[in-house]
Amino acid sequence: MLILVDDANLEAIKKIYEEFPCDGVTTNPSILKKQGGNPMEVLKAIREFLPEGAQLHAQVVSLTAEKMVDEAHHMLEVLGKDTFIKVPVTSEGIKAMKLLKNENVNITATAIYTSMQAFIAAKAGARYTAPYVNRIDNMGADGVQVAKDIHDMFRMHNLNADVLAASFKNSQQVLNLCKHGIGSVTAAPDVIEGLIKHDATTNAVDVFTKDFYSLVGEGNTMENL
Ligand code: G3P
Repeated sequence: MLILVDDANLEAIKKIYEEFPCDGVTTNPSILKKQGGNPMEVLKAIREFLPEGAQLHAQVVSLTAEKMVDEAHHMLEVLGKDTFIKVPVTSEGIKAMKLLKNENVNITATAIYTSMQAFIAAKAGARYTAPYVNRIDNMGADGVQVAKDIHDMFRMHNLNADVLAASFKNSQQVLNLCKHGIGSVTAAPDVIEGLIKHDATTNAVDVFTKDFYSLVGEGNTMENL
């Protein structure tokens, strides 16, 4: 399962990249608004930081298919041909996906609330589809189940597409998708940090450290012995 960072703050991205095995960064217009500054410059800086092979997903904001395609061309020129162009699953968005697919552009269908939207996007050429797990939960439905259904439907119908589950509130939602073999998730740094947090682990390490210090003296490690 790929783990992507859903953020546009370069410092936060660098920090999480140092600590966790990450596979790329996703952004959307709201995340870029939160970051502030010129969004294209922000994306360029993220691209420059990311290691070779890491994914960058960035979203078009145009409302018609033709404009989305033009916008995507410009983004690919500035950010690199391997950038994933995020396109919302509106009817104009689906039309744009078909046009971009003809040019072999990497497409991430976004703003997905139902499994049918994801299915149509995959048929239109999206490589990734991003169901908004937590937002779906907040609407009284089951976001994890929607993501699982999409994953299963892609396999059942032999579609060359994966789920890129987005919008998480907690690590349990991520775990449930991981157990189901979901292809990728994108989450904010605090949710990624929560994936390994456990008081029992912290306490165990505390005891190990104290025991070792009482054996060889405070502050000593294997390196000093
Ligand atoms: O990538 C989509 C995601 O950023 C939405 O997350 O937390 O705004 O629901 P959220």
